[in-house]
Amino acid sequence: MSFLLKEQNSKKALLVSPSLLAADYGYLADAAISAEKGGADLIHIDYMDGHYVPNISFGIDLIPALKKRIKLPLEAHLMISNPEERVEDFIRVKPDFIIFQEDTLLNHNKTISMVREAGIRPGLAINPDRELSEIEDYLHLIDYLLILGVHPGFGGQKFIRDTLKKMVRASEIKQERNLDYLIAVDGGVNLKTAPEIVKTGVDILVAGSAIYGSKDVKRAISDFKSLIRT
Ligand code: DX5
Ligand code: ZN
Repeated sequence: MSFLLKEQNSKKALLVSPSLLAADYGYLADAAISAEKGGADLIHIDYMDGHYVPNISFGIDLIPALKKRIKLPLEAHLMISNPEERVEDFIRVKPDFIIFQEDTLLNHNKTISMVREAGIRPGLAINPDRELSEIEDYLHLIDYLLILGVHPGFGGQKFIRDTLKKMVRASEIKQERNLDYLIAVDGGVNLKTAPEIVKTGVDILVAGSAIYGSKDVKRAISDFKSLIRT
């Protein structure tokens, strides 16, 4: 689903989604506002439950709180066990995207449809040690494919270069099967790793520490957006 790209009127547009995981938690809304003012296209919210990953992050009510302060689309990335038990709670607060770790779903078809029927764009995220073949039957159902460049759980980790192959393959499958999901990369994205990443044909860069760890959020976002996609 390339509505965001269409909005930008360019197939080559690269979208940037700052991850709040790396923001100062005392100033979360301010961090989202500075991303919006700095030209970000989306805001990435990592949900961690201390079970699927060994870290706990935000609560569901962060979404309505942010919606009062910014207009950017919000993506909820659920790194939680048994997300099907909580999906209705996430649907209720209406983020623009709900992205499930593909290995946490019991019934992909049902859960993805439930999200779509609620008017929310469904996505799947895939870990570095999983192959796209695991989810080929669901790719036509999603709007967003999140390829993790690190093992999920923490920000600031080193990008796993082996995941570049998966990005290339995700673009090929999209063309071969005439599908329309956005391809995003999450984890280890910085100005050193991004030039290679964008060459694979991905649409969205999710970046936490490279944006919120920098002194100038606006500059960091525009540096990413100036990278040329091929
Ligand atoms: C990883 C999270 C990422 C994280 C990325 O578990 O899903 O969204 O915020 O952080 P950086 O960009 O610092 O690698
Ligand atoms: Zn994430």
